[in-house]
Amino acid sequence: MINLKNLQYQLWGLLIIALYACEPHSDEKDIVGASLVSLNYDQEISVKIDSILSIMTLEEKLGQLSQLNNAGDKHIDSTTVNAVRKGEVGSLLINRRSFYSIEERNFYQKLAVEESRLGIPIIFGHDVIHGFRTIFPTSLAQSSTWSPDLVEKGAEIAAREASAQGVDWAFAPMVDVARDPRWGRIAEGYGEDPYLNAVFGAAVVRGFQGKDVSAPDRVAACMKHYVGYGAAVGGRGKQFTDISKRTLHEVYLPPFKAGIEQGALTVMTAFNDINGTPATAYTYGIREVLKKDYGFQGFVVSDWDAVKHLLWHGIAADTTDAAQLALNAGVDMEMKTIFYKKLKEALAEGTVAIETIDDAVKRILYVKYKLGLFKRPYIEKDNTRELFLSDTHRKEARKMAAASMVLLQNNNDVLPVPSGTQSIAVVGAFAQERDVMGWWKSTGKFKDVITAFDGIKSNAAEGMEVTDKVTANTAYIIACVGEPSRFFGESRNRADITVPAEQVDFLKSLQKYKKPIVLVVFNGRPLDLSNVTDLTQAILLAWHPGTETGNALADVLFGQHNPYAKLTASFPRSVAQVPVYYSRRNSGNPNGNKYIDLSGEPLFPFGFGLSYTTFEYSSLKIEQAKMPVNGELKLSVIITNTGSKEGYEVAQLYVRDLVGSTTRPIKELKGFQKVLLAPGESKKVNFVLPTRELAVFNADFEPVIEPGKFYVWVAPNVTGGLKGEFEIAGNFNAQ
Ligand code: BGC
Repeated sequence: MINLKNLQYQLWGLLIIALYACEPHSDEKDIVGASLVSLNYDQEISVKIDSILSIMTLEEKLGQLSQLNNAGDKHIDSTTVNAVRKGEVGSLLINRRSFYSIEERNFYQKLAVEESRLGIPIIFGHDVIHGFRTIFPTSLAQSSTWSPDLVEKGAEIAAREASAQGVDWAFAPMVDVARDPRWGRIAEGYGEDPYLNAVFGAAVVRGFQGKDVSAPDRVAACMKHYVGYGAAVGGRGKQFTDISKRTLHEVYLPPFKAGIEQGALTVMTAFNDINGTPATAYTYGIREVLKKDYGFQGFVVSDWDAVKHLLWHGIAADTTDAAQLALNAGVDMEMKTIFYKKLKEALAEGTVAIETIDDAVKRILYVKYKLGLFKRPYIEKDNTRELFLSDTHRKEARKMAAASMVLLQNNNDVLPVPSGTQSIAVVGAFAQERDVMGWWKSTGKFKDVITAFDGIKSNAAEGMEVTDKVTANTAYIIACVGEPSRFFGESRNRADITVPAEQVDFLKSLQKYKKPIVLVVFNGRPLDLSNVTDLTQAILLAWHPGTETGNALADVLFGQHNPYAKLTASFPRSVAQVPVYYSRRNSGNPNGNKYIDLSGEPLFPFGFGLSYTTFEYSSLKIEQAKMPVNGELKLSVIITNTGSKEGYEVAQLYVRDLVGSTTRPIKELKGFQKVLLAPGESKKVNFVLPTRELAVFNADFEPVIEPGKFYVWVAPNVTGGLKGEFEIAGNFNAQ
């Protein structure tokens, strides 16, 4: 007998496949090791690309696939000069230790455009991660704002400053979902949740590329690191990963898909291996999913030395083998090229096909056309002086930094500091620290950073004394502790994620003054704060806030900015719990999952953050408790500001699919809204969630919406909120 219910959702599943995955291209070609998909460039660009391609020598083609790292003090070096002149360089990497002046950049570009045979411009790439000269908070901090508009604006400003200096291509956003705070690079992404990484990754792509990426103040985005890098076993940087197909598609891939849908022009592969295949040789991920299913038309670049790593991974026998593996898997350009030169031999040996090389060249030329590099290869006017650290840029950086600070504890409403306070002491290792720009600070300079002390002093109310020591007059102690930038970032993994011991001792030494202590933590990653919560009345997470550190901190401490930031990664109570993240599956008997000597719950949960006011959630209304499979979940709650200050509340929407063909996480974030409420004010907040957002991969790995019951919560953080229920009736014909 045919199971009708089954048939209905299978049919709907097929429809979703058609909607969400691209149909296999009819002219897909299998060539030596690579299966190529057709490129859908518009006619004008296609014609140009084909006409260049038709006259390119093999050396010139391989040149486009090469990115040289012309680093160090010798900005103009003869090897690079000669290679560019011969048309054998597609891109130059401006690395973190050196920076080209506009003149140097134009010099190289002139060699490429006016002296090389074909005049193909170079694309200049650089790590513009959270700011260029005006440094914004780290990416993880930015995600705590739950404000894609602010994040987009920050990326736009970074693009404006970077492009003025000649950067065409930013190696960001990093959308590696990260669930292990020991991993140093957790600071570079947008936290533990795939939905948030997708939202913020997409915001950065919009901010970098704008509506017209060829505008002079825009840069190409690079979604990285493809894929699964955040799953490094043990949080150890470049460790291997074991990621099931389900986790890959439900957790690690969605942020990349979201960025591609926003038009991201490039993607960078990761260092990790995935279930035995290094990401830089991951044909399934790059050719099948990215280029075929997601229809990605831009180019893929390897990470730094990642093609060479194929030897160390133990997958390539020699340099030629490594090059062919990466190219055949879909890596179009080698960062810091050495091995791709060997593609000439691979071609002769027949392990790569000329069509595969051509496909990579086309993708790279396409991005150069989209960026307008053929029309506007040079930086014609130096306007860096007006742009860098301009008042507007600093203002936005200050706004974002304040908005990213998370208030974790505020006993007896000790914050904000009352304006009548006579004297406050700003002390601790980070009170006067300028190393608060994170690990990727691009061209940011320590001298431009407003320190915590200076910012608090210059923004203090009239008559308020600000000292760098605790004195007899001190009424409040602001204790600044944290991790320096060398504690997080690439290859900076920590096994101990507590506040450094000497700083805890310092905090203990402050207890004798019997004054309210406000702890300000400058952190890159989620820390275990369990050894400091009892030593302080308030805890404010400042992260690494960037150039405007002190001003933003003052805004929060003095109440000019009422905090609304919330955590986007769980803060464990001990490293022994790691990984601890909210979106886990239930398991058969959750009681059996506990530790006998430690709580299983984090110290501060995902989505948590306090305000100087309080909010109450009431009257959850679900418009239609039973809806068709192609419907929309519409619901509302009333949120009331029950405190005495105006403030924003970030209301979060979570769901749980109760019964399905496979087990589902106990909660999944599906939306959020930021609402401004005056004291006493109530607002109705509406959420609309199309049921297609509830599509999952069933046991046979088909994307379907499975009928049945769901729980839904609208909540201030993942642990609380109002809970309701709805049902998907599986009525396929009801559209
Ligand atoms: C990092 C990338 C970065 C690249 C270029 C690599 O080591 O993993 O994130 O974009 O260097 O600097």
